[in-house]
Parts: sequence; structure tokens; C-alpha cells
Amino acid sequence: MTDRTDARPWVPADPTPDSLREALQGCRGCELHADATQAVPGRGTFDARLLLLGEQPGDQEDRQGAPFVGPAGRVLVDALDEAGVDRSDVYVTNTVKHFRWRSGGGKRRIHQSPGRAHVEACRPWLDAELSLLRPVGAVLLGGTAGKALYGSTFRVGEARSVLRDWPEKYPVAHPPAWVLATLHPSAVLRADPADRQDLYAGLVADLRLAATTLKDADPS
Ligand code: URA
Ligand code: SF4
Repeated sequence: MTDRTDARPWVPADPTPDSLREALQGCRGCELHADATQAVPGRGTFDARLLLLGEQPGDQEDRQGAPFVGPAGRVLVDALDEAGVDRSDVYVTNTVKHFRWRSGGGKRRIHQSPGRAHVEACRPWLDAELSLLRPVGAVLLGGTAGKALYGSTFRVGEARSVLRDWPEKYPVAHPPAWVLATLHPSAVLRADPADRQDLYAGLVADLRLAATTLKDADPS
């Protein structure tokens, strides 16, 4: 990216869930909008007690306009259910709102991870979502979400599976009481078939920690 623009000019000053959703489609904060079908907003109630943060939309999400509706989403839903996370109590969104891809020949679109500049450019959307959310906990799905919050030295392989504090460097109105990093569900799909079961079990175990920590915080 040559110009150092970001999403701020497009983000409503005093956002509501509806105004955010609407304004997001007009964003030209970085060049990723140009090759994508649409921007993909977060999904779920803003009252959710759990925030799930992914990387960016994939091919299916780009077509359908909702996060985690493709193959990685199926892994995620299965893992959430198996871990006992109440999906109606989750708000799920991505660090970057447009799909970054390169051509794989013909109609094939190959996922490309967003660069640091894309993450920075898109952050005002996440800030706006966070200004409306009051989550008790946050689960970071993979390295991009982790780096967006904790900086470029964050390594999900080392940092996963333990509860940590919301980063001081990233002030938000209602920071979650804890943050848990885990594998991105796509890592399960990309893994060698022989390793898939173990990786999936690890994802479920991390999500189970999120579910039990949420239950412990339950006032009822
Ligand atoms: N991967 C992500 O990080 N987010 C999605 O929405 C889909 C796949
Ligand atoms: Fe705007 Fe984010 Fe899309 Fe870039 S990726 S155009 S900053 S919504």
C-alpha cells in the first residue's frame, strides 16, 4: 500500500449497530475494497458476553457478506458447540473487513493474509465495534487478531491457551476482563490430515476454557 490512509473518514462519529453496518460498505480506507465483492461486518448481538475476533473474510464470506460462513466457519461452529459455548452469546467479527486474495487461475481466488498496513487501516472499524460492545471475554482466532492487539511480536503458538489481560496499549470503553488466543480454525483445515484431529481438539480445549471462564463470571 503506498498511501497511508485508513478507515476513519468512513466511520460514523457516534455509531449505532445499523449505521456502522451501512457505512462499512462505503469504506475506501485501503485498496482491499477494490477486488472484493463487499465488506463483511461482524455478526451477533452487541450485548454478547464473548467477542470472537478472526482475521479477514474468506471466499464464501466475501460472497455472502457474513463472517465465518465458509469451511473455517463450519470448523468454528463445531468447535464452539463441542466446547459448550452458547453461540447466541457471541459477537464474531474480523480484524480486516474485506477479503484479500490473489488469482489462482480461472475463477479460483486464493486467500492472502492481510498485511500490517491493512490491519492498521481497518482498525477504526474494530474500534467502533468495541465502542458498542461490552464483552466479558475475547477469543482471538489466530495470529492476525493477536498481532492486531498485542503487536507484531505476538506468536499464537506460544501465546495461546492462557487467559491474559486486554492490552493496555489499546484503550477501549469496556475492555473484556480476559483475552484468550487460540488457533485459527483454518489452521485445522490446512494441517496434514494426520494432525488435524489433534489441532481440532486443541481448538476445542481452548474454547472450553473460554466457556467455563464465562460461566464462572455468570452472575446467575
Ligand atoms: N477466516 C476468518 O478469519 N474470518 C472469516 O470470516 C472466515 C474465515
Ligand atoms: Fe476499509 Fe477495512 Fe475494507 Fe480497507 S479492508 S477498505 S480499511 S473496510
